[in-house]
Formats: sequence, C-alpha cells, structure tokens
Amino acid sequence: MSTTFQLDTATSRATPTPRPRKRLTVPAIRDHKKEGKTSDPLVMLTAYTARQAQLLDEHCDMLLVGDSLGQVIYGLPTTLQVTVDMMIAHGAAVVRGSYHALVIVDMPFGSYEGSKEQAFETARRIMAETGCAAVKLEGGDSMAETIAFLSSRGIPVMAHVGLTPQAVNVLGGYGARGRSQREHEKILSDGKAVQDAGAFAVVAEGVLEPIAISLTQSLDIPVIGIGASAECDGQVLVTEDMLGMFERVPRFVKKYENLAEVISKAAGKYAEDVRARSFPSSDQTYQPKD
Ligand code: KIV
Repeated sequence: MSTTFQLDTATSRATPTPRPRKRLTVPAIRDHKKEGKTSDPLVMLTAYTARQAQLLDEHCDMLLVGDSLGQVIYGLPTTLQVTVDMMIAHGAAVVRGSYHALVIVDMPFGSYEGSKEQAFETARRIMAETGCAAVKLEGGDSMAETIAFLSSRGIPVMAHVGLTPQAVNVLGGYGARGRSQREHEKILSDGKAVQDAGAFAVVAEGVLEPIAISLTQSLDIPVIGIGASAECDGQVLVTEDMLGMFERVPRFVKKYENLAEVISKAAGKYAEDVRARSFPSSDQTYQPKD
C-alpha cells in the first residue's frame, strides 16, 4: 500500500481541461511550405505563462516564448537584461500549458553569440529544462555557423532577421529595416544564409513589405512575418500587444481587444465593492453548517 498522500489537483487552475491533440513537430512546420509556397499561413503568438498557453494553444501552430517577456512581463526597457533562467521558467510554464503548438524559446542576449559551443550549452539547457522543441536566435549571416552547429546536433533553430531587438544599440532604434539598398540586400542574404545553415524557419521583423515578399518567395523555409507582409508564410505578434494591454505599441500591431481597459474597469469595480463592504457577499463566504 502506498503511503504517499495524493493531492487531488483536478480542480486546480493549473490543470487545464484535457484536450489531447498531437503536438506539431519541427518537420511538420518546415514542410508546411511546399515548393516555395504556403497555402495555409502559419499562426504564431508569444506566450509566457501556462494559462496564456492553454488559451492560445488551440488557435496556434507555434507558441513563441519570446525574450520580449523582459519588457512585457518584467517592465525592462529592452530585451538585453533578460536571462536564461527567466526564459527557462517561462518556457517550462508554456510547455506545461500547451498540447498542440510547437513551443519555441528565445535564446536571450549574451547567451549564444560568444561561440557555437556557448550557444549549444544554452540551447541544451533550455530544451532539457523546459521541454520545448526548438530555440530562436537573432542574426543572419553572422549566426550561420552557430545555426549549422546546433541543427546538426539535434537542436532545431528558428532564425530572426531584419529588425533584431537584441541589436537595438547597433541599429540605433526599433525603426523598420531595409530602407537602403545595403540593408535590403543584407536582409535577403541573411535569410539565405540561415536557410543554408539549417534553420527550419525564420522570423522577418520590421522590414519593408517588398523585401518581406522577396524574402518569402526566395526561401524554401517558412518566413514568419511581424511588421512585414501578409504574403509571408505565417505571422507572429506579441500576444499582449494584440490584446491591447499597452497604450504604446509598434505601428505593425493590430489590437484585437482592449484588455487594458477591461482590467482597469474590473479592478475599479472590485475596489468600489471592497470600500462599500459589498464584497465578499454571502455567495463568497463560508457559513457554519447547521
Ligand atoms: O521576443 C519576441 O517576442 C520576438 C517576436 C516579436 C518575434 O522575438
């Protein structure tokens, strides 16, 4: 007889209604683009928590645990202060909260650029400690050797070109990329370099639409756009941006809700109830049984 007390967690918020579905794999995402074309665009959103993942999972092909969590969750000014431990904590939560979507975790600034061996160790830790299926890193040609090293050693890599927020100090801001001929050519050659190195997909962020279209047409791997073009093979947005949690968002964000207003209104009503002693009422209090 087991002496271990089994806690019944069936009613816990952390236990989602089971909806077993097969999880999408890296090859399934990669092969979504056939002969250079994607008929059914890939849907990706960021997720940082288990509950968020539970709600987004059924709608998404991929969930990205983006290092944007530094700004969105931690209120940091840029993504540069995000650590591997932060990514692992949130990555594990998102894997626990999802069944279907492929989960990809960002490698934070400074955790992979030093050498391909450093990148391998960071990616290994992220995959082992979160259970995610792939990592994302920023950079094109300069990261090709690292991408080849990781992908040939069992680590699927999504690349990220164009506006790469970890390079904000080099780029001088978060403006769109590709306005000069040099930048235009670099975005296309970065895309080709990461594809040749073995990336299974690439995010193209904040690039002029004609460049995003050329990139999508010229690569065999899926190009996931953000501030790019509807012609890309898929789209990604920061979930809190599209839910309207922030007043200030990049121009490329479409707000599908105004959650900031919803939350503020609810908190205001709660505060009123508390101050009027109308919460908790008899529905929310325990009375002695007769
Ligand atoms: O960190 C992030 O959320 C990202 C997406 C915006 C692509 O990299």
